[in-house]
Amino acid sequence: MDLHLMPNTPTQEERAAIDAALGPEPAPAEGDAGGRAVAGGRERRERRHLLLPALHAVQDRVGWISRGALNEVGRRLTVPPAEAYGVATFYALLSLEPSPPTVLHVCDDVACRTAEAEEVCAGLEREVGPPGTATADGSTTWRRSPCLGACERAPATLIRRAGRDPEDSTVGPVPADGTLDALVGGAAAAPRPVPATPQTVGDRSALRLLHRLGLVDPESLEDHLAHGGTGCLRRAVELGPAGVIREVTDSKLLGRGGAAFPTGAKWEAVAGQPARPHYFVCNADESEPGTFKDRVLMEEDPFAVIEALTVAGFATGAERGFIYLRGEYPLAAGRLEHAIAASRAAGLLGEDVLGAGFRFDVELRRGAGAYICGEETALFNSIEGKRGDPRNKPPFPVERGLFGKPTGINNVETLVNVLEILRIGSASYAAIGTEGSTGPRLFCVSGCVESPGVYEAAHGITLRELMAMAGGVRGGRAPAAVLLGGAAGVFVGPDDLDLRLTMEDARAGGYTLGSGAAVVFDDTVDLVGVVLRVAAFFRDESCGQCVPCRVGTVRQEEALHRLVAGRPRGSRQEELRLLGDVARVMRDASICGLGQTAASAVQSAVDRLGLFEEAVP
Ligand SMILES: Cc1cc2nc3c(=O)[nH]c(=O)nc-3n(C[C@H](O)[C@H](O)[C@H](O)COP(=O)(O)O)c2cc1C
Ligand code: SF4
Ligand code: FES
Repeated sequence: MDLHLMPNTPTQEERAAIDAALGPEPAPAEGDAGGRAVAGGRERRERRHLLLPALHAVQDRVGWISRGALNEVGRRLTVPPAEAYGVATFYALLSLEPSPPTVLHVCDDVACRTAEAEEVCAGLEREVGPPGTATADGSTTWRRSPCLGACERAPATLIRRAGRDPEDSTVGPVPADGTLDALVGGAAAAPRPVPATPQTVGDRSALRLLHRLGLVDPESLEDHLAHGGTGCLRRAVELGPAGVIREVTDSKLLGRGGAAFPTGAKWEAVAGQPARPHYFVCNADESEPGTFKDRVLMEEDPFAVIEALTVAGFATGAERGFIYLRGEYPLAAGRLEHAIAASRAAGLLGEDVLGAGFRFDVELRRGAGAYICGEETALFNSIEGKRGDPRNKPPFPVERGLFGKPTGINNVETLVNVLEILRIGSASYAAIGTEGSTGPRLFCVSGCVESPGVYEAAHGITLRELMAMAGGVRGGRAPAAVLLGGAAGVFVGPDDLDLRLTMEDARAGGYTLGSGAAVVFDDTVDLVGVVLRVAAFFRDESCGQCVPCRVGTVRQEEALHRLVAGRPRGSRQEELRLLGDVARVMRDASICGLGQTAASAVQSAVDRLGLFEEAVP
């Protein structure tokens, strides 16, 4: 539809969605012309953080965001139209064009490529047309998607239905030969049940992070309490904030979100900031291709995530916490919302947590399809209602983070580790794993293995042992490569399977554990296609703010395509040299971790697998 022909006012349905998200419109502020002025009172400006929730509300109800709806949201929150447009267009799950009410997102990313994702897409192209084409009755369309965080259910799809509770969206595997109708089950059909996630193998009693999975009803606070719930929060209250931080520091816990930063040092820095208020954020964006451990924790043990975040808030002096959850996790969203409400009702959140005299509450914020929003400062901007562009650091979040205030931020798995530290004590915790990489760790094993899933192991396990936990390579075939650490990680070859999975080994060996992803490829997989998909991912997800990454990710992909087509610029060696130069510039000159790691997997495919040497004539 031509944007110029769109009405400037929202429809009744859109207005109802906006009202539901923003509450009743406040009385006109002084200087507001009947509440219609674009510039408004301070109170309205301070509600800008509701921009993304309001856009979500319209998208969920109607299936897209019209110009009239966007104007109305901007007016109500005093966000200038150009800025509201800039935010709305930033996110892949928001549409400013009319869209059929049912959208099938098909993952064609690294793990799903090993499970006929391309065949699913080809079938849909034949039946419906290219991505974005609507069915003849206008009810449904389909799109390709980067990793949906459901790699163990490859080929994964996400089905979103406008007008239904977003939690009715479903994520699950599909048959490669399914018709669109069969895949979405008919637009009016009830959501398909989500298959159970394969759990870890071996001795259950040895589990520390996954110990409640499969044993508790994730929607029952009573069950949580019956399985040790709140024990760690009570222990934290006994220890006091400084005592908790001491325990976390002594445990030598390193963050599990990718950067491996010492958690105790971060908490101490936040707690020591004189500025108030402090905030604590749980990073549940989990968009690294090949990664789904946080989803499993949140879906199966949501009360543990809330308890751990409450401990973090208590220790760092934060009274308000946020969980920033990726938009493609409807089941986790529903279970976390339920756990927050039940915890609040039971006095485990709120004005006087546990009756222990401290205040802490939690809000869930949904992302909307942007990998970069997992970067901590981009995440803050997203919560604040801005585009998810990373900020320059320093200042670091511990000093100026969310809303410009001291902020602690940790990955879901990092926080859940803190519960274990409080349960067994820092000394026992530090004795698990190795000297430089303490504690248990979750690994997401996917691709060509018999039993893809989340596996818990102590640091120090070898990659070969981890693959054996997941049943080994599917069909007894030979492994050709493993992508370790996700798209921002590195490929390792079959000769590297005995490498130990620790931070210190990773550093010494020039690889990374990243987010704990291990995508296994056997000798039938088109590895060149996988590398091209990684390059396309970074080109797509770059926020475009800085030149090395914005241009470098495009140039990297172009060079790879030229190599694959057998038309290198100059000689093959010159093209590979150019690729290396682009990689160096991205790594050294990009503002944030996305650009700094965008060439990592590609370069490892060249250096470790010798991939493009052989693929190129
Ligand atoms: C592009 C990019 C994406 C990221 N995505 C995530 C993510 O999805 N989840 C996460 O916990 N950390 C992610 N991070 C790391 C965060 O910026 C931050 O380091 C982390 O949340 C800190 O928590 P931790 O110390 O517990 O690891 C990402 C970083 C970058 C550069
Ligand atoms: S490195 Fe890439 S994602 Fe990060 S700020 Fe620069 S352009 Fe944006
Ligand atoms: S869900 Fe497809 S690669 Fe992760």
